[in-house]
This record gives sequence, structure tokens and C-alpha cells, in this order.
Amino acid sequence: MTETMIIGGGSGMGFALARVLVAEGVTIVGRSIDRLATARADLEQAGSGRVQTRRADIGREEDVAELFAGDQQVDRVAVTAADIAGS
Ligand SMILES: NC(=O)c1ccc[n+]([C@@H]2O[C@H](COP(=O)([O-])OP(=O)(O)OC[C@H]3O[C@@H](n4cnc5c(N)ncnc54)[C@H](OP(=O)(O)O)[C@@H]3O)[C@@H](O)[C@H]2O)c1
Repeated sequence: MTETMIIGGGSGMGFALARVLVAEGVTIVGRSIDRLATARADLEQAGSGRVQTRRADIGREEDVAELFAGDQQVDRVAVTAADIAGS
């Protein structure tokens, strides 16, 4: 089974992608544990599939290293986490 890690999967475009891929197994990543927990509950309610959550700030090198340090299978990585609205 293909496992997709979606960095930014707790909301917006990443969450929409997670909904499409949830049957294959997804890991959603973000900074807010509460946001991730809410998204996970929504995804699990939406259909069968395995949903994991990981807290990480991809602006922090040590968080990124930790994210990929384990032995979890990751076949695809999608990154929608960004703050490009500007001001
Ligand atoms: N939606 C659109 O149609 C659209 C179109 C063009 C451009 N964009 C741009 O694309 C980006 C994503 O859009 P979106 O609508 O999906 O936004 P969104 O709903 O704000 O989703 C971004 C996700 O990324 C996570 N995130 C942000 N910074 C992070 C970090 N440093 N480390 C880990 N996770 C992080 C956020 O969770 P936490 O805050 O919990 O970390 C959030 O769940 C935005 O910059 C937006 O301006 C969006």
C-alpha cells in the first residue's frame, strides 16, 4: 500500500489531498496538534483508511530531520505548508 505524507495536511489544500488519498494511508503533518487531531477525526469519519499525525515545523531543520528519522514507510511526500500570502 502506498503511504503519502502530507506536510500541511491539517487544513486547506493538504487536507483536501488527504481526503482523496486516505484509503491508501496518509500521514498529515503540521505544527498544531489540535488542528491535526481535528483533521484526523474528519478523515477517519469520511472513510476507511489509516491516518497518522506528526507534529513538525518544517521551518525548523531539526523537526524535518526527526520527521524522516524513523523507519516509517513513506512513498510520496506532498508539501502544501506555506505562508506566501505576504503583506
Ligand atoms: N488554497 C488555495 O486555493 C491557494 C491558492 C494559491 C496559493 N495558496 C497558498 O498555498 C498555501 C497553502 O494554502 P492552503 O489553503 O492549503 O492553506 P492552509 O489551510 O493555511 O494550510 C496550510 C497548512 O500548512 C500547515 N503549516 C503552515 N506552516 C507550517 C510549517 N512551518 N510547518 C508545518 N506545517 C505548516 C498549517 O498548519 P499549522 O499552522 O498547524 O502548522 C496548515 O494546516 C498558502 O500559503 C496559500 O496562500 C493557496
